[in-house]
Amino acid sequence: MRRAKITIIGAGNVGATCAHWAAAKELGDIVLVDIVEGMPQGKALDLYEASPVEGFDARIIGTNSYEETADSDIVIITSGIARKPGMSRDQLLETNTKIVAEVTAKAVARSPNAVLIVVSNPLDAMVYVASKVSKFPSNRVVGQAGVLDVARYAAFIAAEIGCSVKDVSALLMGGHGDDMVPLPRYTAVAGIPVTQLMSRDRLDAIVQRARTGGAEIVNLLKTGSAYYAPSAATVAMAESIIRDQRRIMACAAYCDREYGVGGYFVGVPCVLGRGGVERVIEVELDAAERDMFNNSVSHVRELVGVAQKFLG
Ligand code: APR
Repeated sequence: MRRAKITIIGAGNVGATCAHWAAAKELGDIVLVDIVEGMPQGKALDLYEASPVEGFDARIIGTNSYEETADSDIVIITSGIARKPGMSRDQLLETNTKIVAEVTAKAVARSPNAVLIVVSNPLDAMVYVASKVSKFPSNRVVGQAGVLDVARYAAFIAAEIGCSVKDVSALLMGGHGDDMVPLPRYTAVAGIPVTQLMSRDRLDAIVQRARTGGAEIVNLLKTGSAYYAPSAATVAMAESIIRDQRRIMACAAYCDREYGVGGYFVGVPCVLGRGGVERVIEVELDAAERDMFNNSVSHVRELVGVAQKFLG
């Protein structure tokens, strides 16, 4: 059987760490692409040299061109500039729209059957840009945001309760970070509703910390943004697709009639399998949750409106 092929565009912190997680899981052969000369080649070689120690089989190459990316099954887009302290995701919009549009066009020309996973921020707009430029069916374009937000939320819940992270099962919806819609009634720990395990105040504080989880890391690092958890989240999505696991994950997926979104990519629970987004799952929202979700969608709409101008 042919091994899966994964192209990762942007060999910075998120991209290179994606390569690391993907290689460790033996998800397939990996091509790391970046504009900086030598850097993707160096990181790819270094990671390949780790393979005898860790015992994973993967061909890992780094490049500044797209020839080697041909016929990829998955293309992960992380290229762009990262958020600096005090900078909002929206301020990244113009630069990253241009970068994501350029790399998408180059990648899809050589991998017309790939599933695109977009990671670059502001995510909800960048996934729209990749979709427009690629002209791929909407099930083959998906954004990574929800898996990370849910991971942060779950990690804080487990730490608060003092239990294994493996027992936390949670769902969040809407836009990335500041815009996410918490759904405590869909959060359980070993099947026990989380609301029975901690006070509403503690849970609210955890939701708020997850919401601003990206900024918390930026403020600590000072010279860049989070990458371990974002890349782990991205590779979990890639794994579900490559291995057709059909996991249900919160992803930025195209919603038209779903939730009445009207043609935008927003964070919703999806089944991820070989075809990409196999299905968007519509869960019941109460009035307050729906209000928050609609708010989040209107922010996505605004962002996309601005990105459209930069797309020309
Ligand atoms: N083509 C290829 N690579 C590019 C291009 C381009 N046109 N423009 C920039 N890059 C590369 C940069 O050279 C850099 O190596 O993208 C990489 C980005 O890496 P980092 O600056 O380390 O940023 P990182 O922390 O990896 O974040 C990448 O993911 O989570 C999001 O907000 C984050 O949008 C940011 C993205």
